[in-house]
Amino acid sequence: MDQQKAAKQRHTKNRIDNDQHNDPRADGASRHSSKQSRTAANTSSWKQSVLQGLCLSVLFFFLASYLVTDTWLWGYKGKYTNLRHWFPPKEVVFTQTELLKYDGSDPSKKIYLAIKGEVFDVTAGRPYYSKGGGYGFFSGKDASRAYTTGCFQTHLTHDLRGLTKQQLADIDGWANFYRNHQKYFKVGTVILDPIDPASPIPEDCHQPVAPKPSS
Ligand code: HEM
Repeated sequence: MDQQKAAKQRHTKNRIDNDQHNDPRADGASRHSSKQSRTAANTSSWKQSVLQGLCLSVLFFFLASYLVTDTWLWGYKGKYTNLRHWFPPKEVVFTQTELLKYDGSDPSKKIYLAIKGEVFDVTAGRPYYSKGGGYGFFSGKDASRAYTTGCFQTHLTHDLRGLTKQQLADIDGWANFYRNHQKYFKVGTVILDPIDPASPIPEDCHQPVAPKPSS
């Protein structure tokens, strides 16, 4: 009885094997699937080569830069090398009084300054911006006007009335200097008191140059 059963099982298996072998559809399907797997293998090896090429180019870029310029980024020192540029902290809105707390007089605090309402962290430039530093008068306030007139005592204000187009562009230039700096970065904005239109326009601090005497 067991022998009969085993013979029947062998017979069934042979029939299935033969069917698969002789069936033209099965043959076509298997050829098709092997073609598919060949194509998939080609695509993946092509992708691998591209990836390898890219990795080598990036490696070459950095190594060549280091060999030629002694820096990893061909001497570039802009804002893009600062992680804060890619992950900026949440911006803060200051009042003028709040901003004044960051004027560089307290060595344990950060130093902030503002240009046209934009507040920048310039702590990295403490030697310039701390109390007594060469440009410490800019800290803790929006002294936009002084950036173009150079009147570092009388023009520490955001009052821009009466300035020429060129002077306004100069101030924008300084704002860009802070925006694009590698170590300084924007932290927020300051709400500036409105300028009383009836108040006098800040006077130029420079002595007018006497006209050259005619000979
Ligand atoms: C409107 C006039 C001026 C403005 C608004 C101005 C502003 C500034 C500011 C904001 C800085 C700091 C830069 C930083 O944070 O890295 C700076 C640096 C400096 N300024 Fe002026 N400046 C003026 C005129 C002058 C003049 C006339 C001189 C030269 C006699 C001068 C010499 C310097 C020097 C040597 C530095 C340091 C540069 C460095 O080491 O990177 N500045 N200036």
